[in-house]
Amino acid sequence: MNVVSVISKKRDGGELSADEIGSLINGYVRGDVADYQMSAWAMAVFLRGMTVAETAALTEHMLHSGVTFQWPAGESPKVDKHSTGGIGDKVSLPLAPLLACCDLQVPMISGRGLGATGGTLDKLEAIPGYRTNLSTAEFQQVCRDVGCVISGATADLVPADRKLYALRDVTGTVPSIPLITASIMSKKLAEGLDALVLDVKHGTGAFMKTLDNARALARSMVDTGKRMGVPTVALLTDMNQPLGRMAGNANEVNESVAALMGNGPADLMAVTLELGAELLVLAKREPTTAAARQRMERVISSGAGLEKFREMVAAQGGNLDAPRPIAPTQEILSPDVGYVSAIDTERLGYVVINLGGGRRQLGDQLDLSVGFEMLVRIGDKVDRGQPLARLFAKPEAAAQVTRDFVAAVTIAEAPVAAPPLIVERIA
Ligand code: URA
Repeated sequence: MNVVSVISKKRDGGELSADEIGSLINGYVRGDVADYQMSAWAMAVFLRGMTVAETAALTEHMLHSGVTFQWPAGESPKVDKHSTGGIGDKVSLPLAPLLACCDLQVPMISGRGLGATGGTLDKLEAIPGYRTNLSTAEFQQVCRDVGCVISGATADLVPADRKLYALRDVTGTVPSIPLITASIMSKKLAEGLDALVLDVKHGTGAFMKTLDNARALARSMVDTGKRMGVPTVALLTDMNQPLGRMAGNANEVNESVAALMGNGPADLMAVTLELGAELLVLAKREPTTAAARQRMERVISSGAGLEKFREMVAAQGGNLDAPRPIAPTQEILSPDVGYVSAIDTERLGYVVINLGGGRRQLGDQLDLSVGFEMLVRIGDKVDRGQPLARLFAKPEAAAQVTRDFVAAVTIAEAPVAAPPLIVERIA
């Protein structure tokens, strides 16, 4: 392959063949294609886009750049959920055990915080002893024994994405729909899934700020999943305010436990059950999403879901009953009377980061005890001096972030309608 001619073809708007894409990706992983050449190609893709066939070929070659999980025939179907991320999005924690109680297996590879959004692995590490660095063999064993497992990617899983993502991060080529699609779908499909559901968020706290962009990303990922033989459905959900009440790490585990005890906030329960219902139907465990939701509700009310979560935590070395530290509480009061009309949710994500609950740079040590509990939602009427939120923080740190928190919440004179939570289904 002539690398320069492949880059030039994409630069000029041509369609690359699967072989050309494969040679480029394999050459990059081997070290034969240089970072500067790959950067030029990524920028060409960013500017020119990719067809569905090119995106599928890129996904496939990235997927096969490392190991993929193989599962013996005859076991329960393997399913997973991917979320594009947001503030307070802890859905994976209650969802994995709920599905494992419904005759499905959930081999969930998760990540750490990215930008303003929290990461599932960071949250789970607030559980004393919990290991997020299982080997491939341990990962598969826990999945078989318990029915669900949540851990980080091993070094041999999709190495092409690890290299390419780091390059995109420093070359302004992250927000490209085909590159995001291939990055996310290659990692999910490497799990050897029978069905996948995607939670594609839009709004002030989401990666995709507009519904149109979220829809385009969802369409691209669903098309790629289907083309690669994995039934895939996406839900477009709201991230114009935090999901649930808690944002942080330890406090999000607490809210997840509450959800499994039947005491979760309505929005968190609605998104969790809807995503789970899609998987139960895709994997042919239930005929309708209504029946699937009811099945998961029974799993919650019987206590089996919480027991399954405790079992998964124990299998990964953790103790769900050991205390999880929460920083001292301080209320943030409304400076005005009126209606909550908008929330800059990304800014609230940075409040958690500024408290030490998220990373500014790779390798930062986190304080898992900090975060906040949202006490109002868009559309709520508030009085001057009414608590908007409860901050979990050392008092000196709380004073610093309070102004930011208040500035992130717009209070208007006129009432506004709450934004719809689950906006659209793409199948
Ligand atoms: N998350 C990923 O895993 N990859 C992307 O490209 C963007 C978000």
